[in-house]
Amino acid sequence: MTGKKLVTTLLLLGCLRLAGADTIAMIGTGSVGGALGPEFAALGHTVIYGSRQPDRADVQALVARTGNGASALPPSDAAAAAEIVVLAVPGESVVSIVEGLGDVSGKILIDPTNALVRGADGWFRMDVDTSNGERIQAAAPAAHVVKAFNTLNYRTMIDPDTAGGPVSIPLAGDSADAKAKVAELVTGIGLDPIDVGPIRHSRHVEGMLILWINNGIGGRGPAFEYHLRRVGDD
Ligand SMILES: NC(=O)c1ccc[n+]([C@@H]2O[C@H](COP(=O)([O-])OP(=O)(O)OC[C@H]3O[C@@H](n4cnc5c(N)ncnc54)[C@H](OP(=O)(O)O)[C@@H]3O)[C@@H](O)[C@H]2O)c1
Repeated sequence: MTGKKLVTTLLLLGCLRLAGADTIAMIGTGSVGGALGPEFAALGHTVIYGSRQPDRADVQALVARTGNGASALPPSDAAAAAEIVVLAVPGESVVSIVEGLGDVSGKILIDPTNALVRGADGWFRMDVDTSNGERIQAAAPAAHVVKAFNTLNYRTMIDPDTAGGPVSIPLAGDSADAKAKVAELVTGIGLDPIDVGPIRHSRHVEGMLILWINNGIGGRGPAFEYHLRRVGDD
């Protein structure tokens, strides 16, 4: 390929990539925010981190590592500027954090959180009767909440190949359009989206973490890893 053709091809690819580019607010700059933010930026999306301390050195280092025009703002400013908001924050605080974001009507809220608490007997359990996915949807009824990314370690989000095969991501939500949009992100970063139904099914998806965390972090038995994997396609 001549230099001119190569430049033309690269420009075309760049246009195609940007055609579907979104602005994504990544609320939280910890393990999950620091995994998904750079992955989404690499797909051509603009990532705005929503941080309690956007000028903090580690947050600015994450912004630099993310690239593609990434920035960091206070959480409500990040959410206001985005069509898609990822809630990569502690599960016990997520509802109050959503309430502090301002008007999120019409936005897609991606919820990777887990509603877990350690009981007096030492066992982790769900700390709500329903799920964080449902509580977030109730707190922001005009937003489109999609439960996603809560069933796998953040390292697998960065490098799905470490799982030894395809990894499926269950998506629960009441909006088919929002789930389709999140499915594009999931596919883009090398994972396999599976629609598991309405937002009320978040309670089952969040419950999957209970067994894993009690054995692993809870030390109640031998630690194990698991991945959802689609059957029947190959
Ligand atoms: N770690 C995993 O492998 C994994 C995998 C799947 C799902 N999850 C779930 O995803 C969520 C985020 O997990 P994570 O591991 O990324 O957590 P993390 O490393 O502790 O990061 C959470 C981030 O939330 C922000 N934040 C906002 N309000 C906060 C508050 N009141 N207290 C502490 N941090 C606050 C902080 O960013 P700023 O300081 O910049 O505001 C913080 O860096 C959790 O609900 C977790 O259950 C985790």
